[in-house]
Amino acid sequence: MWHNDFPALAALAARGITYLDSAATAQKPAALLLALQTYLSQGAANVHRAGYRLADEVTSAFEACRDDVAAFIGAAQRDEIVFTRSATEAFNLLAYGLEAQINAGDELLLSPLEHHANLLPWQQLAARRGAKLVWLPISASGHIDMAAASALFTPRTKLLAVTQLSNVLGTLQPVRELCTLAAQHGALSVVDGAQGVVHSSVDVRALDCDFYVFSAHKLYGPDGLGVLYGRHHLLNQLPPWQFGGEMVLQVSRDSASFQAAPLRFEAGTPPISAVLALRASLAYLRTLDRSAVAAHEALLLQQLKTGLDQRAGVRRLGDSDAALVSFVVDGVHHADLAQLLDEQGIAVRSGQHCAHPLMATLGVAGSTRVSLGLYSQAADLERFFTALDNALALLQ
Ligand SMILES: Cc1ncc(COP(=O)(O)O)c(C=O)c1O
Repeated sequence: MWHNDFPALAALAARGITYLDSAATAQKPAALLLALQTYLSQGAANVHRAGYRLADEVTSAFEACRDDVAAFIGAAQRDEIVFTRSATEAFNLLAYGLEAQINAGDELLLSPLEHHANLLPWQQLAARRGAKLVWLPISASGHIDMAAASALFTPRTKLLAVTQLSNVLGTLQPVRELCTLAAQHGALSVVDGAQGVVHSSVDVRALDCDFYVFSAHKLYGPDGLGVLYGRHHLLNQLPPWQFGGEMVLQVSRDSASFQAAPLRFEAGTPPISAVLALRASLAYLRTLDRSAVAAHEALLLQQLKTGLDQRAGVRRLGDSDAALVSFVVDGVHHADLAQLLDEQGIAVRSGQHCAHPLMATLGVAGSTRVSLGLYSQAADLERFFTALDNALALLQ
C-alpha cells in the first residue's frame, strides 16, 4: 500500500533483496529524501548562533521539528524534547545525569527484555554508585509479569527502566501500569520507546512516564538522531553531561553557567540535517491513517506467525504483539540459517539482538528475527517462507 512511498524498496527489489529487518533500521520515505535534498542544495547554516536570515530560517525549521516531535508523542511542552545522537546516547545522558540521585543500596528495576542500550548505562551507574539491579520477571509469552512486578517495588526502588516493545520478542509491555507503580513508590521511570514508537501511537502523558527515548532511524527517519523526552522539571534537575558551544549562558575563564533544558543537553552543532529530515518523516507519517497501518501490520504479523507455526521444528520465541517475530529451529544454528536466507536475498537479523541477558533467560544461543515496516507486504513474507523452506531442506 505505502510501498511506493519508499524509493529504496524498488532499488532493493531490483537487486533481488527482500528487506525484513526494519526493527534494525527502517527504509526512508521519499519525503525525507526531498527534505534533505532541499536543505543541502539550497544553503546550509548552523542553528541558534548567527543572526542572518538564512541561519534564522534553518533555526526555525530545526525548532519546528521539536514542536512536531512533542506533538507526535503527546509531550506537554516543546522544551521537554531533547535531540541526541541516538537512543543509546539518550540513555547514557540519563544515566550520567541521574547519578547524583542514586546512592549505595538503591535499587534500579529492569526487565530481562532490555536492549543493551537500556541496560548497560544502568549497569555501569549501579557499579559506580553501589546500587543494585533488580529484575522484573517475564512470563513464557514474553510479557512482564505484573503480579510479581508489583512486589518488587520497595522504598529502595529509585528507578524503573523498561522497554515498551521488545526488539527480540515483539511483545508490548504494561508500561503504563509499571510507570504508575514507580510513581507511587517515588521512583523515576524511563521507557525505551525505540520499537514502541514505530508501531503504536504514543502519548507520554497517558503512559505516565518520566522519560521516554527513541531513535529517528527506526521511525522512518534519518540515522544520527535520537530523542529524549523528559518531564520539564525533571530535565532541569539533571546536570549537563557534555560541554561546549551553545549550551551555555555565560562563560568566564574559570566557570560557566548553563542553559535550561533542552539546550543544555545539546552541546555543539546538533545533527541539523537529520532533524530536518525527521521533520519530513513525521509530516509523512501524519498523512497516513495510523489505524490502517496498524491493521496492515497486524495482518502481516498473523501471516508470519501462522507460517512459522506450520513448519516442523520451528519455534517462535514469546508471543509477539507487533511487527516482529524471533524464532529458533531445532538442530539448526541461526547463523547457518541467516546465511542461506541471505544467499536467497532475504535480509533478516540473526544473533542475539543486543539482548544477551534475554537470550540467557530464554536458554537459547541466538535466534532469527523477521521484522516488518509499514511498507512490508504479504509477498515479502511469501518470498521469506519459500527461502526458509529451501534453507531448512538443506539444514534439517
Ligand atoms: C528496543 C531498543 N532499544 C534501544 C535501541 C538502540 O537504538 P540505537 O542503536 O538507535 O541507539 C534499539 C536498537 O536496536 C532497540 O531495538
